[in-house]
Amino acid sequence: MGLHVGIIMDGNGRWAQRRRRHRIVGHRIGARSVRRVVEAAPALGIGTLTLFAFSSDNWARPPAEVAGLFRLFRRYLRSETERCRKAGVRLRIIGRRSRLPVDLLEAIQDAEARTVDGTRLRLRVAIDYSSRAAIVAATHRLAVVPTEAEFRQALSRAIHDDLPSVDLDLLIRTGGERRLSDFLLFEAAYAELYFSDTAWPDFGAAHLEAALRAYARRDRRFGRIDAGLGEVRSAS
Ligand code: FPP
Repeated sequence: MGLHVGIIMDGNGRWAQRRRRHRIVGHRIGARSVRRVVEAAPALGIGTLTLFAFSSDNWARPPAEVAGLFRLFRRYLRSETERCRKAGVRLRIIGRRSRLPVDLLEAIQDAEARTVDGTRLRLRVAIDYSSRAAIVAATHRLAVVPTEAEFRQALSRAIHDDLPSVDLDLLIRTGGERRLSDFLLFEAAYAELYFSDTAWPDFGAAHLEAALRAYARRDRRFGRIDAGLGEVRSAS
């Protein structure tokens, strides 16, 4: 299965503004970072990579920036689908589809259909995604009080119609902020958090590798205590 890593790709706008360029330039250069991390991920032991590309709250941005992002997503899907297919990457878009432009929806459907056989990396790109909205939508799918497994299944279905639920192992946020911003709140219950000051357009394979090295040093206890500490405690 491999690790499930999520990335909040932040800092594109500030990266561009620091260079006196339009914010969309930061997003465009950020798309190259997407390609770099997707290429690097399988060799680093990542089986599922979920990227936060457009939050449902991003609709509040100026219409020109929103339109520019959707254009970029569409172009990226068109240009990268074949590369993904050849590299064994299965691409899925998670989030709410009903508000997306038709040409983007078509590019999504085409990309998902053409990469359906990929087994090296499951790439999930979150567009018009809100974790809270997904949790609420999941409850609408359930008639009775669900078990955790039933709830997980409903939650997966709320963001994509064919998606296994996978807990997040590592959540990376670039761009210097230290918050979750409504991304995978349920799935990240025991995720290790890694915050990088590097802006997303500057992020590459070496930064991803550094995040995974930091992750490997973490002691994941899932609420339990270390075996050694248990002995000390029972002896006292
Ligand atoms: C956050 O930076 C980033 C986004 C809202 C868009 C992310 C999009 C890309 C990386 C483009 C390519 C993606 C794909 C999947 C092709 P920000 O604008 O909030 O930066 P700021 O905090 O500096 O303003």
